[in-house]
Amino acid sequence: MINFTYNVPTRIYFGKEQIKNLEKEIKNYKSILLAYGAGSIKKCGLYQKVVDILKANNISFCELSGIKPNPRLTSVKQGIELCRKNKVDFILAVGAGSTIDCAKAVAFGYYYEGDVWDFFKGKSQIKNALLLGTILTLAATGSEMNGNTVVSNEELQEKLSVGSDLLRPVFSILDPVYTMTLPKEQTAAGVADIMAHVYEQYFSSVGDAYLQNRLAEAILKTCIEFGPVAINEPDNYEARANIMWAGSLALNGLLTYGKTGDWAVHGIEHEISAIYDLTHGTGLAIIYPNWMDYVLNEKTVDKFSEYAKNVFGINGSDKFQIAKEGIKKTRDFFNLLGLPSTLSQVKIGIENINKMAEKAIINNGGEIGKYVKLGAKDVLSVLQACL
Ligand code: NZQ
Ligand code: ZN
Repeated sequence: MINFTYNVPTRIYFGKEQIKNLEKEIKNYKSILLAYGAGSIKKCGLYQKVVDILKANNISFCELSGIKPNPRLTSVKQGIELCRKNKVDFILAVGAGSTIDCAKAVAFGYYYEGDVWDFFKGKSQIKNALLLGTILTLAATGSEMNGNTVVSNEELQEKLSVGSDLLRPVFSILDPVYTMTLPKEQTAAGVADIMAHVYEQYFSSVGDAYLQNRLAEAILKTCIEFGPVAINEPDNYEARANIMWAGSLALNGLLTYGKTGDWAVHGIEHEISAIYDLTHGTGLAIIYPNWMDYVLNEKTVDKFSEYAKNVFGINGSDKFQIAKEGIKKTRDFFNLLGLPSTLSQVKIGIENINKMAEKAIINNGGEIGKYVKLGAKDVLSVLQACL
């Protein structure tokens, strides 16, 4: 296990009716930016509840609405202007990962005179950010408890991420009931995203860190146990609650402490959704089993057979056979959730795969993946297998 500093400062209010804690968290702010997406929070009544609490506490607020999945740089810029105009001192993001990520980019862009995209290109470092809190409505990204943001620059067809502990939300309200209105596809994509976050940290060049590996397997098993239940019974509280907490724990830092991650598959997926606006978790479900097939070799087989044994209970004497069976089970599980296995199923063809492979490498500093390092040719092979 390598050295680490534990820092997960977000206050989590988890469970039914935890919105009752919103008042005490926000009442000392004078001007709030309320950020949300296309309207799911209005349909389920959450918007009205939040607005009632803001009004009851005489807090002035302005709204950044219509934040799209794969949040756009234009929304970030719009949010920065709103914050400056209204002298905002706190941002409240109500919704899923895209809304929260957009809010985070607004939070640091607010203090910057130049183009906020500079941060994503590594031309500027985050030194200051507005405080923010979240009310989560989709279990997936872990953004409610981490310091990362991923934004799409529609003009350049680029989707890039940046992170800082300054972006970790002050508080997040996690009421699993809010996730019961999700369409099946979003629930499924969310579960795939959670599992992908675990994989990115489980498959690590730091071979030990036994505890982190067992925690990772527990989160994967939770997704496998409750993912199908949440899809078949959207109102099942236990399923929603387990998935929601799994999503936060999968990417708040816990699984990476003492290790390094891989993150090649996320880098490749971001290139696909940058061009095709694909749902992030859907892209991951397509790529992951193909990446696993591609990187399985003498060096990695022990880790993949450990995964197959501990997560899917596969036994046998041939470790390659066990590893392959684990990869097959991974693909089968995503299919069981209703997720596709190929890019053609989501109407993506061969036309941009060279470009995506090259950009995945450029955007990640020359090679991608820390567990298994991939060059442009390797990424191309993985993408070809996804077609
Ligand atoms: O816009 P609304 O109307 O709210 O609808 C949303 C949106 O259409 C809908 N939705 C959310 N909660 C709902 C609901 N519909 C009904 N009932 C509810 N309770 O779901 C759709 C998808 O929303 P989105 O925010 O895009 O989903 P997600 O949370 O999966 O976020 C994906 C984005 O996060 C990035 C992804 O790349 C992608 O851009 N990621 C962020 C990370 C982070 N900050 O740490 C890490 C991840 O790996 C990921 O890259
Ligand atoms: Zn992800």
